[in-house]
Amino acid sequence: MIETVTVDTASGAYPVLIGSGLLENLGVHLPIEAGRGVLITDENVAQHYRDTVLAALEASGWKILCVCTVAAGEGSKSFATVEKLCNEILENAIDRGTVVFALGGGVVGDLAGFAAAILLRGVPFVQIPTTLLAQVDSSVGGKTGINAPSGKNLIGAFYQPKAVIIDTDTLKTLPEREIRAGYAEIAKYGLIYDVAFWDWLQENVQKLLSGDSAALRRAVARSCAIKAEIVAKDEKETDDIRALLNFGHTFGHALERAAEYDDRLRHGEAVAVGMVMAANLSESLALCPQGTAEDIADHLRSAGLPVKPPFSIAPQEMMDYMRYDKKSRAGVLRFVLLWEIGRAFVGDGVSEDSLTGVLRKCL
Ligand code: GLY
Repeated sequence: MIETVTVDTASGAYPVLIGSGLLENLGVHLPIEAGRGVLITDENVAQHYRDTVLAALEASGWKILCVCTVAAGEGSKSFATVEKLCNEILENAIDRGTVVFALGGGVVGDLAGFAAAILLRGVPFVQIPTTLLAQVDSSVGGKTGINAPSGKNLIGAFYQPKAVIIDTDTLKTLPEREIRAGYAEIAKYGLIYDVAFWDWLQENVQKLLSGDSAALRRAVARSCAIKAEIVAKDEKETDDIRALLNFGHTFGHALERAAEYDDRLRHGEAVAVGMVMAANLSESLALCPQGTAEDIADHLRSAGLPVKPPFSIAPQEMMDYMRYDKKSRAGVLRFVLLWEIGRAFVGDGVSEDSLTGVLRKCL
């Protein structure tokens, strides 16, 4: 069974297909005619899926001009890698119809999408995400980019793909820690947008984490559908609607930065800790019912996620890192806060005292 979600933005509409075994028949599922393409992937993903994807595309009449394999990890989201990739691709005399296929997790998707956005001022691209985090978040909605010395994702473009093909079978080769980290973003959708989905997750979290295909397909499809609805309303994050997707991220990004993006904290784990902090902040401002933060923490714990940082960090250090948040306006921090589970908003005017109190409690 294949679920289809449509992302309908001002820059164009495209399908997100979610199902099992989609890679083997990739060409059949693509909503674009076969032509010339290039494949971008990383060393780890290449070992598992490169040959399957190439064979499937070629069987449907695609001519793949080159396969560019980058090093796995956040370090590849750099100008140096973009320069190398673009030069390698341009050596193959591509034209504006040549399709960039991004096969991998969030790093490959962000990087390949950015290269597609700037090559010949824009060539089509297709996302084929292979991690849970990329399947439910980064491959959908057109955020592409690389990191800068000043912070993550500070250079990039909004550039929508022509299709997102999600084969949930790729999760079978994903380490358990990555599945749990991806789960944090799934839980986020329930928290900000859909209490019924949150309730369903309470019932089904263990099934989902143990790799049950039907549960995974349903969770990925609902996450993508919520993201599609939000992106359709606010593609370029100008109206405080898309910013809701950043629930827990102001705290989470600060923690990732404090950990220097090392292995102590995966992005999804930082988001889990950040969501508990954001819920505590909402509670301390009497915005949401008392006990909400503890309910959220209980659920995330049951999914094997951290709800406190795994290292010590002082409130003041957190505040310093949070100042880099992209939601800030004129130096004033803004937070995604909860009215209740399933209903979020972007708020400012949080006093330094309230923030410090919550940081003292949660760090
Ligand atoms: N990951 C947040 C967004 O796509 O807006």
